[in-house]
Amino acid sequence: MAKLYGKITGWGAYAPPRIVTNHDLEATLDTSHDWIVQRTGIHARHVADANETTSTMAVKASWSALAKAGIPSTELDLILVATSSPDYFTPPVSSMVQSMLGAHDVPAMTIVTGCTGFVYALVTAYQFIETGVYRNILVVGVELLSRFVNWEERSVSVLFGDAAGAVVVQPTAEPCGLEGFVLGSDGSNGQHIIMPAGGSARPFSEDVLQEGSHYLQMNGREVFKFATRVIGPSCDEALRLAGKSMADVDWIIPHQANLRIIQAAARDMDIPLDRWIVNIDQYANTSAASIPLALAESLESGRVKPTDTLLLVSFGAGMTWASAVLQMQPS
Ligand code: COA
Repeated sequence: MAKLYGKITGWGAYAPPRIVTNHDLEATLDTSHDWIVQRTGIHARHVADANETTSTMAVKASWSALAKAGIPSTELDLILVATSSPDYFTPPVSSMVQSMLGAHDVPAMTIVTGCTGFVYALVTAYQFIETGVYRNILVVGVELLSRFVNWEERSVSVLFGDAAGAVVVQPTAEPCGLEGFVLGSDGSNGQHIIMPAGGSARPFSEDVLQEGSHYLQMNGREVFKFATRVIGPSCDEALRLAGKSMADVDWIIPHQANLRIIQAAARDMDIPLDRWIVNIDQYANTSAASIPLALAESLESGRVKPTDTLLLVSFGAGMTWASAVLQMQPS
């Protein structure tokens, strides 16, 4: 059998229309636009209204990606949804998305690795494409974290936004696709990004509600150190596996957690900031949605071309990290 490569034939993104600026937050929180911009680069975030859920946002991005790829949802062979903020613990949000897309009986799974979820899911999709097991795979990164942060607590709530992004991966005989990747996990430091209660370790209760320990909590300093430690080496390793160097990369699309993390990585890796795709100012940290959102947006604006060599790099809860050297379409 001829070697199979994966080609990204469709992409799409969705962000809820309601924009909450830093100035809006100043009205309800002891914070300031200047503090948020200086520490994070964030100016605004999109926040879902009550009528939206994780699955409805995922489906909106998915329809755009399917339309671009020109395939009906009934032709899908697999649906992968990366998220840490599903509609329910169970049923899996991936099955909800499958049903809402009318993709009858199509296998669907949710990948829960925090902010690295989309890259983990994309790498998984490529394994099925390259082995010829499946032909049409939808990969979604979606997050509705505004429902999981405590809006009365300034240190975490200002950092996150809601969004979804999706791509369709299909096989081709022409060389392109996932050229090298690194996935990693260090569960020994998992406490640095945690929702302490609501799971089996500490089920929901009156006490949990009083303490607010069902909300997302984060040790910002430790996460910052972790991120700046893993970005460079995981990019280098993905490039080594791809047989490429940084000079071959047209664009780096990093997880959008904090502008200062991106600036520090750019400095450490000696790559000018204008080769990094950055949109955190308008969306904040949309976790598993941040890379597919930045990808779709920069493809739509024409800044990134589907034949460009991309380096995706992400880090987040777990703690996990993920890097991938990717050429979406053959040259
Ligand atoms: N507005 C104003 N002040 C705030 C604030 C806010 N929204 N949030 C925290 N502060 C205050 C703190 O209370 C603290 O005050 P104190 O010194 O009087 O105690 C002060 O600002 C410094 O807090 P600290 O947490 O040390 O700030 P920091 O410089 O580490 O910045 C983060 C905080 C969260 C912006 C930063 O640590 C960060 O970006 N970390 C990475 C987070 C991340 O990327 N997470 C996602 C991973 S996927």
